Amino acid sequence: MTQPPAPILITGASQRVGLHCALRLLEAGHPVIVSYRSERPGLQTLRERGAVTLFADFSSEASILAFIGELKTHTDSLRAIVHNASAWLKEPAGDEAQAFTQMFSVHMLAPYLINLHCAPLLERSSPADIVHISDDVTRKGSSNHIAYCASKAGLDSLTLSFAARYAPHIKVNAIAPALVLFNEGDDAAYRAKALAKSVMGVAPGSEAIYQGLRYLLQSPCVTGTTLTVNGGRHLK
Ligand SMILES: NC(=O)c1ccc[n+]([C@@H]2O[C@H](COP(=O)([O-])OP(=O)(O)OC[C@H]3O[C@@H](n4cnc5c(N)ncnc54)[C@H](OP(=O)(O)O)[C@@H]3O)[C@@H](O)[C@H]2O)c1
Repeated sequence: MTQPPAPILITGASQRVGLHCALRLLEAGHPVIVSYRSERPGLQTLRERGAVTLFADFSSEASILAFIGELKTHTDSLRAIVHNASAWLKEPAGDEAQAFTQMFSVHMLAPYLINLHCAPLLERSSPADIVHISDDVTRKGSSNHIAYCASKAGLDSLTLSFAARYAPHIKVNAIAPALVLFNEGDDAAYRAKALAKSVMGVAPGSEAIYQGLRYLLQSPCVTGTTLTVNGGRHLK
């Protein structure tokens, strides 16, 4: 009897980039498990199309471990893990440590613990991948979002270390987007300023990240690499 294909886990996939990638992977025939923190309309669509949706709060060690425990009751194998969940928090004076700790927990502690505890699940799939969704801002730092940038830079470091540890069986790579999608409420001046930061001057949308993800999943030999999707920001 043939085994059903191992699912792909995408974290924080109730909306925007994660939701788009989950829907595209389902369309391509992959079983998908998503984590979500807030109940949002996109989750219903995912459920109707066969995705497993699991609540996850990555704000503490205990809640990350609780998610991993729950995940393991749903599957004993994984084709890939896509660490997409992210918090882009302000760092308000007097409350910086809280913001730093939150972003450290989502961008570093959760991927670190999930990668460690789920390696046996990935080992049951061939090929097997981990993809970290980082941020192009780590290339140059950010005077406004120091904690966000530092925690995403830590994620870049996890890419290198896990790629070395898990080779050759599990490939570990990152995608570093710059502007992908605007947030509701971004005004015209903000949009113009953000678009002007790259030579291409585009907000490419979630499909650009999905294309990168497909490439990494299909590649037979790319590991420990960060795929930059930044419209040529480094050229300006
Ligand atoms: N959008 C861009 O232009 C852009 C630019 C550069 C990099 N990126 C990166 O690309 C990825 C996708 O971007 P996006 O804009 O689609 O992301 P997003 O909508 O801001 O966030 C993705 C999800 O992360 C989840 N999340 C946040 N804190 C969490 C926590 N403590 N525990 C569990 N889940 C948590 C949220 O889940 P709930 O909604 O369920 O609460 C949210 O829906 C992110 O990693 C982001 O850093 C995006």
